[in-house]
Amino acid sequence: METEWTRREALETSVVPTGATVESGANAAAESAGDEPIESTVRLSINGEDYTLTLDHRATLLDALRERAGLTGTKKGCDRGECGACTVHIDGRRALACLTFAVAVQGREVTTIEGLASGALHPVQAAFIEHDAFQCGYCTSGQIMSAVACIAEGHARSEAEVAEYMSGNLCRCAAYPQIRAAVLAAAGEAGR
Ligand code: FES
Ligand code: FES
Repeated sequence: METEWTRREALETSVVPTGATVESGANAAAESAGDEPIESTVRLSINGEDYTLTLDHRATLLDALRERAGLTGTKKGCDRGECGACTVHIDGRRALACLTFAVAVQGREVTTIEGLASGALHPVQAAFIEHDAFQCGYCTSGQIMSAVACIAEGHARSEAEVAEYMSGNLCRCAAYPQIRAAVLAAAGEAGR
């Protein structure tokens, strides 16, 4: 006779108990590959502060920021280079933290959304608020980091150019018209 599961039974067997260790992506990958993680002490400069972290060599900058440095402003969307939610700056240039090994950025300056404002909001942050350039907000930190670099690169001279040079940052809420307006306004203020 077939056993019929109730919804409650199904939920009870799928719940992770409180206090259970949830492995990071890098550690889970290591286990599935059947080898032990190889760790090193890594010194990172993030938002002008020094962090000394013990990391698996394969840990991404995204996981190091979020899970080890406590900087959760950088978001994990796809974790494979497709959405732009994890955009940070490395030595002033935009980079995808999910495709960057943390060990590879030693000696370089990493800037995240937490490091953008100094006292007052950064003009791009202010423009996003002014132009209502977000809905759920999940893509927003990546959009803003990308926009700051896009303006600095001189690639924000028209709506079409902003659309082209921000095309690596996806917004599932489709707030693109407001995002483009915010970037253009901030670029105008910066005189670019
Ligand atoms: S989380 Fe890095 S590109 Fe999507
Ligand atoms: S505001 Fe929701 S994903 Fe962009």
